[in-house]
Amino acid sequence: MPEGNGADAPGRLRRGLLFALNFFKHPRMVGTFAVSSPALVQRLLAPVDWQHCRTVVELGPGVGTITRALLAAMPANARLIAIETNTDFVRELRKTLPDPRLHVVAGSAADLAEHLQALAVASVDVVVSGIPFSTMPPPAREATLDAVARTVGDRGQFLVYQYSAMIREPLQRRFHQVHSEREWRNLVPVHLFRVSQPVAIP
Ligand SMILES: C[S@@+](CC[C@H](N)C(=O)[O-])C[C@H]1O[C@@H](n2cnc3c(N)ncnc32)[C@H](O)[C@@H]1O
Repeated sequence: MPEGNGADAPGRLRRGLLFALNFFKHPRMVGTFAVSSPALVQRLLAPVDWQHCRTVVELGPGVGTITRALLAAMPANARLIAIETNTDFVRELRKTLPDPRLHVVAGSAADLAEHLQALAVASVDVVVSGIPFSTMPPPAREATLDAVARTVGDRGQFLVYQYSAMIREPLQRRFHQVHSEREWRNLVPVHLFRVSQPVAIP
């Protein structure tokens, strides 16, 4: 499911450099200096039957490491909405991923409801997020999690990968089911959360 080892090595190197450079320019926004490892991507996405997904949202796609794996796994009639604040990454995604199923939105995950409304999206199967919740201003973090909880219906899922476990408690306040595990095969080991069954958010 993750990008193959031999495939497009120069492209992956260029994207890795663009990502690292942007971490040094905007450390709190980007959160880490290296893109997600193939092991992380594989383990994060493994629990979902992507062939049955019609609408998926990715928050913080970066240079598209997980986006590529999602597009490879999703069916031809699905759509993937990727919301990214960093304009260098938005340009890169639009240039290197001309897949008609992909809608790259330049904006913040905190405005998820408005972005989905603009695209006439009524329901979402899965939200995947790598945005660095622990370094976000608390009001933006709360607004984003509320927006995701309202978006993910009773049968939807929220997949989160984070370098800090601080997000566990805010997730438990909003979802009845919060499963977590660790993936060590990444430059910085990560916490993976698989979350579902949102509580009613006013
Ligand atoms: C840890 S990186 C993950 C990048 C990529 N998905 C990967 O797995 O390698 C976090 C990404 O979230 C983006 N980001 C941070 N805050 C955001 C926000 N409020 N809305 C959307 N994207 C955001 C950053 O620009 C960065 O691309």
